[in-house]
Amino acid sequence: MGLTIAQKIIKAHLREGDMTPGTEVGLRIDQTLTQDATGTMAYLEFEAMGVPRVKTDLSVAYIDHNTLQSGFMNADDHRFIQSMAKKHGLKFSRPGNGICHQVHLERFGKPGKTLIGSDSHTPTGGGIGMLAMGAGGLDVAVAMGGGTYYITMPKMIRVNLTGHLKPFVTAKDISLEILRILSVKGGVGYIIEWGGPGIRDLSVPERATITNMGTELGATTSIFPSDEVTRAFLKAEGREEDWTPLASDPDAVYDRVIDIDLDTLEPKIACPHSPDAVVDVASLKGTKVDQVCIGSCTNSSLFDMLKVAALLKGKTIRPEVSLSISPGSKQVLRMLADCGALSDIIASGARVLECACGPCIGMGFSPNSGGVSLRTFNRNFLGRSGTKDGKVYLVSPETAVAAALTGEITDPQLLGEMPEITMPEAFTIDDTAVIEPAAEGPEADAVEILKGPNIKECPLGEPLGDELYAEAILKVGDNITTDHIMPAGSKILPYRSNIPHLSQFCFEVVDETFPERAKAAGRSFIIGGENYGQGSSREHAALVPLYLGVRAVITKSFARIHVANLINAGILPLTFEDPADYDRISQGDELKLTGIREGLESGVFLLTDGEQQIRLKGEFTERQKGMLLAGGLLRYVGQEK
Ligand code: F3S
Repeated sequence: MGLTIAQKIIKAHLREGDMTPGTEVGLRIDQTLTQDATGTMAYLEFEAMGVPRVKTDLSVAYIDHNTLQSGFMNADDHRFIQSMAKKHGLKFSRPGNGICHQVHLERFGKPGKTLIGSDSHTPTGGGIGMLAMGAGGLDVAVAMGGGTYYITMPKMIRVNLTGHLKPFVTAKDISLEILRILSVKGGVGYIIEWGGPGIRDLSVPERATITNMGTELGATTSIFPSDEVTRAFLKAEGREEDWTPLASDPDAVYDRVIDIDLDTLEPKIACPHSPDAVVDVASLKGTKVDQVCIGSCTNSSLFDMLKVAALLKGKTIRPEVSLSISPGSKQVLRMLADCGALSDIIASGARVLECACGPCIGMGFSPNSGGVSLRTFNRNFLGRSGTKDGKVYLVSPETAVAAALTGEITDPQLLGEMPEITMPEAFTIDDTAVIEPAAEGPEADAVEILKGPNIKECPLGEPLGDELYAEAILKVGDNITTDHIMPAGSKILPYRSNIPHLSQFCFEVVDETFPERAKAAGRSFIIGGENYGQGSSREHAALVPLYLGVRAVITKSFARIHVANLINAGILPLTFEDPADYDRISQGDELKLTGIREGLESGVFLLTDGEQQIRLKGEFTERQKGMLLAGGLLRYVGQEK
């Protein structure tokens, strides 16, 4: 049986498993990337592993999220990451050099390679034929140390594109169309492979717009073949030698096939507050617009920006509309400046922002209260723009410009003729904002790691013995989210590398006294109801309780990703064999967990409070058992070295 593109890359990188869908596979990772918001913790974790030099082919540390300064915290984080990169063999992409995914595509991505990044839009790299996946910071730290990355082997969806896009209809409209078809849950458990004759017209950055938004489908990743279009892009980037051809076998088998006819595709728009609430732009004609934002890792390539500049040239945006434009990288910005297109953008009345995530995470350009904001970005969740009642719509750059020029949602096809865009055959290569690491040996050894007061050590778990005595320090009900455990938000964001500071807010909406009581107890258990830990994949929701001394969490049931994070942290996650036993434990009870080693083998654990005995369950893979016994993933990896 033939293989899909993704199966070929997985096979070439397979360390463990047999590629049966639904089972765990362990992969060798060639490249990693981090951004600063998640990167500080990833590098603290890497430091705790004690590996002197990254073992990947290439690892890059980008600064693109918290680029605006409001105090010393972000600057401290940047300096720490820069010094870690220099000492341990990573390239460091300075603030201003661009958004991690855009820069990685331009300068570092290679067809056929594996990439994991501590950012959920890492699948952008699928546009150049990489198997590129978003991962937790700890997973990235382990991969940097040469460790294996584990995923559940996905099933395969093939999307065939036929025909040709009309003027003013774009790769972004293809992204929105597949979201309309599959919904935000439709990609879960799948890799989405793009093919068919229609892909020949799509450049690598356009393909990357599509793979970027595969994240919104919930897909493991999305991928395009590596063909002559890929080769031309790499040649323009001055690195044609990085090209290798990559295609699926003619007899490759897919679990589902979807056809999209580009000839009939119309401009699309995702309505508030979900990327799959997609309709035709024409159907919202006349909706008043307050703000327009062009950029983000989805739509900030040179091609996007040249189209925007050409449509704005000689025109002025409406006085009631505020327009921001953030080119995706320094390369894009320089080329816009050199060819005069930047001048056309500035003359139109747009505000040019730095090459960073910016408005995408509510940094420096939020909508007015209740305002309508049209954005070329990938997410429009309630409140993400920084304005709680802002109404964010997702569109292509062409639709964004049409709104900025008319003050209302307008089908861009009504703008008239699409100006001819001539793409340069060679891009301007300038890597001065990428700092190389120190040479391995004395030079690297001499590099001092710069830890300002905002950088605190990453907590480490304790090896698990055969018994655990501890107090049930907190008893909570059903559906506790990661936001309950570790709130997010602007007062927290600058402290992602400061677990002791964050710990003051742990469970603050449930019980303000928890942090102090847990710290005083030294060791503790948390008792929870159904679906404990639902919500985000935030690893801080495990690391902060670990810091406060939590050794086991005992619940009626867990959310899947949170269990993995607890095990990674070295916290034992167990469930009641009989959920009714939840009622037999009260907050403050002194509990004893016995026969832990035997329990790891049998899956049954015994909990006593001196009188009654309660049976608990916990089934773990061999790797998870090893992690729990070692005191978490970092200690486990340390043992393997
Ligand atoms: Fe940045 Fe937004 Fe992309 S935060 S990495 S531009 S999704």
